[in-house]
Amino acid sequence: MKDRFGREIDYLRISVTRRCNFRCAYCGAGEAGGEELSPAQFAAAAAAFRRAGIRKIRLTGGEPLIRGDIDEIAARVNAAAAPDYLAITTNGVLLKEKAAALKAAGVRGVNLSLDTLDGDCFRQLTGADALPAVLAGLETALSLGFDKVKINAVLLRGVNDDGAEKLVELAREYPLDVRFIELMPAEGGEQRNLMIPADELLRRFPFLKPVPGGDGTAAHYSAPGFRGRIGMISPVTKKFCNGCNRVRLLSDGRVKPCLGQAETYDLRPYLEDAEQLYRAVAAAIEQKPAGHHFERGARLAPMNTIGG
Ligand code: GTP
Ligand code: 5AD
Ligand code: SF4
Repeated sequence: MKDRFGREIDYLRISVTRRCNFRCAYCGAGEAGGEELSPAQFAAAAAAFRRAGIRKIRLTGGEPLIRGDIDEIAARVNAAAAPDYLAITTNGVLLKEKAAALKAAGVRGVNLSLDTLDGDCFRQLTGADALPAVLAGLETALSLGFDKVKINAVLLRGVNDDGAEKLVELAREYPLDVRFIELMPAEGGEQRNLMIPADELLRRFPFLKPVPGGDGTAAHYSAPGFRGRIGMISPVTKKFCNGCNRVRLLSDGRVKPCLGQAETYDLRPYLEDAEQLYRAVAAAIEQKPAGHHFERGARLAPMNTIGG
């Protein structure tokens, strides 16, 4: 369905938990608990979103694979909402052991956060000595033949930006997209003055040429001999709110229509009643705000509570 600004909302991001086994410098995650919906409750909500026009669903966190029942969540959401595309965004540390079950549950795309290929830098950035485990997860995902595997990299000036070239090289070697995401200001996360604008980053790689096929968030680039693409996601220097097609369901059952706004709409009172649930979902989508306001100094809630 359309929101009040005429945007067709067809993409739901479900954050299944706020908990995370990493502490990425840019994220702002602290100790996080709180109520989490069950697989059946996520499925009920997803069915209502489907009725409201959702066609694509992405499972996020925190770190979604921390939930031991993540494959059940995926399977039940898939069965209840029959999305055209079901994907997951993960930090990858548990991916090696969970990837096959996710694929069997109907997950078709995996986005993996990977900000550096240097083990020391990785530990400094994420608080976890986990680069080998993440790379093993990536290898497993590639070998299982998911429809799409994408790498998400957030570069911080002077911290991990000298490793950008090695990340670009991944798209030469493997059939995957490597997407550089401009640092967004999150409560408790790294400050915006470490953000590297996409245009500046592109100047470091003059061999990258634009290719068609933008998906709304990322602009794509490639070079001869590359098996995958490079993507630039520029929420700060090229705000894409006008074309935004997303809404979010948080792990505790509240809908957060926009990444950048505080308003949420609680679905918990309606989870038992499909008709009321649908009306609550439609009302939340309708109320999606125009966009974020980083340019006016706005900050996001810690990213682990939103799921990106
Ligand atoms: P696909 O396009 O399906 O691959 O997913 P995605 O890029 O939306 O999802 P992913 O979870 O990989 O997120 C990539 C980056 O985009 C993260 O940094 C998110 O925080 C950011 N992002 C996702 N949705 C939005 C949004 O609505 N607004 C803004 N500003 N950033 C977003
Ligand atoms: N700015 C930009 N991207 C962020 N992510 C987490 N926090 C931020 C931030 N402050 C990214 C992670 C993950 C995705 C869901 O969100 O890298 O890949
Ligand atoms: Fe965890 Fe993702 Fe936040 Fe990193 S960005 S601490 S992986 S929730």
